[in-house]
Amino acid sequence: MYSNIEEMNALIKNCIKCNLSLKRKNAVCGNGPKNPKIMIIGEAPGKTEDENGIPFSGRSGVLLRKVMEESGIDSKDVYITNSVRCRPHNNQKPKKANLIACSAYLKFEVEFLKPNIIVPLGNSSLGALSYISGIRFDPITKAIGQKISWNQMIIIPQFHPAAILRDMKRLKVFEGVFRKIANKN
Ligand code: URA
Repeated sequence: MYSNIEEMNALIKNCIKCNLSLKRKNAVCGNGPKNPKIMIIGEAPGKTEDENGIPFSGRSGVLLRKVMEESGIDSKDVYITNSVRCRPHNNQKPKKANLIACSAYLKFEVEFLKPNIIVPLGNSSLGALSYISGIRFDPITKAIGQKISWNQMIIIPQFHPAAILRDMKRLKVFEGVFRKIANKN
């Protein structure tokens, strides 16, 4: 087992709990401060992240960081992690078995880092959070912007930035939710 994030990340780097480990170049660990106000939970690494091992370092990450910064959120307060740590083949959605296999890492991060606000991006991360918390969330399109209390933390679901890149009409809502998050931390 592990008793801190560094020990956990060393295990993640060599993890073989599920089939996603077979084709990865890099397992992608969470990244950010030890006392984050905000924890962002993405879905899974994409091609860029698989290559460099840094979460949200591709196109989705550029949009995510830009909108957070414009909302007044300081990146020093933000820990960024993922529901699964290895890239699914052909950028498919992670399967439930992958989310479950990886869930202990997410659970440890949440319990160890105790952020004030947790922001799951999209349905996969809502599913992963549901698995570790026991909370039944609405589907993401309905859950967006809701405030859900859990163990002294607030969960505020948000669109995945890839959904904004697919349909820019959602940008205004995405920005609005981050402004709401900025006012709460
Ligand atoms: N999309 C995610 O959900 N996570 C990443 O790290 C990159 C893209």
